Amino acid sequence: MEVLRTVAEARARSEAWRCEGLSVGLVPTMGALHEGHLSLVRRAREECDRTVVSIFVNPLQFAPGEDYERYPRDLDADMALLRAERVDAVYTPAVEAMYPPGATSRARVAGLDEVLEGECRPGHFEGVATVVLKLFNAVRPRRAYFGQKDGQQARLVGRLARDLDTGVEVVVCATVREPDGLALSSRNAYLRGPERAAARCLVRALTAANARWLGGERDAAALARAMREVLAAEQLARVDYAPVVDEQSFRGPGRLAVVAVRIVRTRLIDNHPLGEPLPV
Ligand code: PAJ
Repeated sequence: MEVLRTVAEARARSEAWRCEGLSVGLVPTMGALHEGHLSLVRRAREECDRTVVSIFVNPLQFAPGEDYERYPRDLDADMALLRAERVDAVYTPAVEAMYPPGATSRARVAGLDEVLEGECRPGHFEGVATVVLKLFNAVRPRRAYFGQKDGQQARLVGRLARDLDTGVEVVVCATVREPDGLALSSRNAYLRGPERAAARCLVRALTAANARWLGGERDAAALARAMREVLAAEQLARVDYAPVVDEQSFRGPGRLAVVAVRIVRTRLIDNHPLGEPLPV
């Protein structure tokens, strides 16, 4: 497995593969890898001749006061996991390589970045769009893999790729969950003691909305109420949002149930397209 540390190294490696006629798949991550990330890696390995995984905790997508400093980092463990998956290259640029002094250009996906996650985390999606575009420009993959777990991000990146003619096909992969339904997330590592059990309220809220949907309920307000009831019953949870929205615009009404909840200090998100089975 090759380790690429600069934009020039990533570009040269990927360019050489393209010249050999090999397709390149990219899996962007911030590390602290788990089975959710690995599901994207496996899909990329299936569909592409060569797979590059990027590991970069992107300061630009964290607002002041968020968890940039304490975000979990374990590069050695991540490398071991990726080696076991037979990944071809890992791209781990330093912050200064990614954002040299004076690099003030930014990418933005207007509209989608103004609601839900965009509203709760000002500047977050501009940071995501900028780093993803930079990763696309360095690696120039044929396909890039994102998780439905971060549904609004996946949609936003898909639109960015299309609007700015990147030529990258954005592939969205299903959410990987713990046996009790909790969506895997690097931030689950923050959960202490009773917080882990409390974190199940997200998937329980989605399950409640799904049950109503399967029972014929189509009123977005009623579906949202069903989620709110579940979340309100969890003492350790504070709700940021819990509506049912359109899968393209992330505005209501629609059939995508989305939740963002703070469990004490840990902010977790999840979503589910209503009507599809939730394996819990
Ligand atoms: P990160 O949170 O590390 O996630 C990397 C990718 O893994 C994202 O596409 C995310 O949706 C996916 N993922 C996370 N948990 C998952 C799960 N339980 N099931 C399926 N996929 C899952 O998202 C980011 O990093 C960053 O914003 C990034 C896109 C890398 C830009 O910095």
